[in-house]
Amino acid sequence: MATINDNYLKLKAGYLFPEIARRVNAFAEANPDAKVIRLGIGDVTEPLPQACRTAMIGAVEEMGDRATFKGYGPEQGYVWLREKIAAHDFQARGCEIDKSEIFVSDASKCDTGNILDIFGDDNTIAVTDPVYPVYVDTNVMVGHTGPVNEKGEFEGLVYLPITAENNFTAEIPAQKVDLIYLCFPNNPTGAIATREYLKAWVDYARAHNSIIFFDAAYEAFIIDPDIPHSIYEIEGARECAIEFRSFSKNAGFTGTRCAFTVVPNTLMAKAADGSDVELWKLWNRRQSTKFNGVPYIVQRGAEAVYTDEGQAQVKALISFYLENAKIIREQLTAAGLKVYGGVNAPYVWVKTPNGLSSWDFFDKLLHAANVVGTPGSGFGAAGEGYFRISAFNSRENVEEAMKRITEKFKV
Ligand code: MLT
Repeated sequence: MATINDNYLKLKAGYLFPEIARRVNAFAEANPDAKVIRLGIGDVTEPLPQACRTAMIGAVEEMGDRATFKGYGPEQGYVWLREKIAAHDFQARGCEIDKSEIFVSDASKCDTGNILDIFGDDNTIAVTDPVYPVYVDTNVMVGHTGPVNEKGEFEGLVYLPITAENNFTAEIPAQKVDLIYLCFPNNPTGAIATREYLKAWVDYARAHNSIIFFDAAYEAFIIDPDIPHSIYEIEGARECAIEFRSFSKNAGFTGTRCAFTVVPNTLMAKAADGSDVELWKLWNRRQSTKFNGVPYIVQRGAEAVYTDEGQAQVKALISFYLENAKIIREQLTAAGLKVYGGVNAPYVWVKTPNGLSSWDFFDKLLHAANVVGTPGSGFGAAGEGYFRISAFNSRENVEEAMKRITEKFKV
């Protein structure tokens, strides 16, 4: 009989969001009249920008004409999209990133997992706690960890707690770690990283020859001009960081699928024989072998984000969700709850009232207010006692959800 990858057996039963969906569906089935409002998974609700739709319709028509039809595209993404990304997202901010260092993909979620393909199994890996669960689960899947303990921590990972005491920004570790996952604006806490804080990480990584995996999927929500959008705004980051970006949350592409990963050609890591190897070459090799690129039509849609019209429409979407976040923050604060994040980020991180556990609060909120959020403990042991509320929803739903929560949970 064939055997399995036993590492999968170490994982908790279900990935967090499908598990929430399972519980919510069971509730909805048992309570068909309940009007459930979902502020759990960070999935966008507002329509795609007109500029992206027009570009995609044009691309569909091109596919219908032999003269402009496209078959396989470059695995790295079309050069016209990579050029625009490099110019707008990086060079315009003073970051020295070339189009050849950009790899267009279908998701940051996939890339943050797939990136492990090009790294050895002997690296020491640090994650924050709480953390986006994909970073942990993908390391478990490839065998980088031992079993999980009763708190939900996997043996072999270095957990860096992020708490209210450290403003949800991890202390720089005293020990040497080889790979570090950072996410700013942070999922799940909504915390941001200052320039000084990122510089401390870049200095650490350069001193220890570590690589930072910088997940900037939510950078578009940064409105404070002093907060960096990219780790490459920090000097030296080209020598120690890979950055993950997405069109999901800025342009509403969660169902359309387009993202990109930046691997500078100056980034090196060690081979078993002690030689230095360019990570860019390995990632390029990996992508050309295991990936066939993002559909032409979708890349044309993503390209339209960089037109003047696209930029204005994306800005309007971001403002809309940030206003939702403000409403959530203000209403929950007025109800006596302690809230964090939600200013330069679409997530509000709430301390559960009366010492309730994260899942108990989830159940209470679902049953009493028919509102869905995400239990903080689902993001790691240190998330226990917290709850994440996503600002991705219609204004009407956010206002209604806040009304219900404040009525039921005023403390
Ligand atoms: C979340 O809710 O944390 C996000 O939707 C995760 C993701 O983008 O995969």
